[in-house]
Amino acid sequence: MKVVYFLVAILALTSCVASAYDPSPLQDFCVALNDTKNAVFVNGKICKDPKLVKAEDFFRHVEPGNTSNPLGAQVTQVFVDQLPGLNTLGVSLARIDFAPKGLNPPHIHHRGTEILIVIEGTLYVGFVTSNQDNNRLFTKVLNKGDVFVFPIGLIHFQLNVGYGNAIAIAGLSSQSPGTITIANTLFNATPPISTEVLTKAFQVDKSTIAYLQKQFWYNNNN
Ligand SMILES: *[C@@H]1O[C@H](CO)[C@@H](O)[C@H](O)[C@H]1NC(C)=O
Ligand SMILES: *[C@@H]1O[C@H](CO)[C@@H](O)[C@H](O)[C@H]1NC(C)=O
Repeated sequence: MKVVYFLVAILALTSCVASAYDPSPLQDFCVALNDTKNAVFVNGKICKDPKLVKAEDFFRHVEPGNTSNPLGAQVTQVFVDQLPGLNTLGVSLARIDFAPKGLNPPHIHHRGTEILIVIEGTLYVGFVTSNQDNNRLFTKVLNKGDVFVFPIGLIHFQLNVGYGNAIAIAGLSSQSPGTITIANTLFNATPPISTEVLTKAFQVDKSTIAYLQKQFWYNNNN
């Protein structure tokens, strides 16, 4: 009998060890702090007392995004910051509205894979694989009802190539997938990234970098 208990204990221990890992970060960083008074809770958010939870905590209404902006496309996020009931559940959603020729510019969700369905219109979409895979571009023209997946962490985009407006709904595999818009990140950093870094990285001269850094880089996520 003792041997059986021992084996069960070993089994439990090894399965525990096998499944133990650091949780993926749900924020960009978490600097260690000694003073708990000035600390925030991670990973995720502090949980509300379940007895006080209401249906409203799981609900949000989403209006069409305003596409009157330089990109002609607006992302309306329904992440944990907008819908507290998503905390710890590992999913979120976005609605993307496009004016004709509207672009959701190249960006990354560093914490989530995206699965997108076109509800209205026609989109040219794509993503680029990593250096390890020789930066291959995968693209597709999507019509109403078509679904496409953008794997976690890869640069991707969506362009309205139809004659009218377009609407897409995206599901994301994180309560807080994060968004890094490539151009904004590189040319609108605060403080600016050094010209020497950018001229070498992009093989252009200083005036081109100065021009890019002078542009208004609209953040089309809200
Ligand atoms: C944090 O607290 C520990 C234990 O009190 C102390 O040894 C350490 O120096 C502190 N670290 C910082 C950065 O204050
Ligand atoms: C959409 O955005 C434009 C530009 O900021 C603004 O002028 C307009 O009032 C907005 N429309 C709505 C319906 O909010």
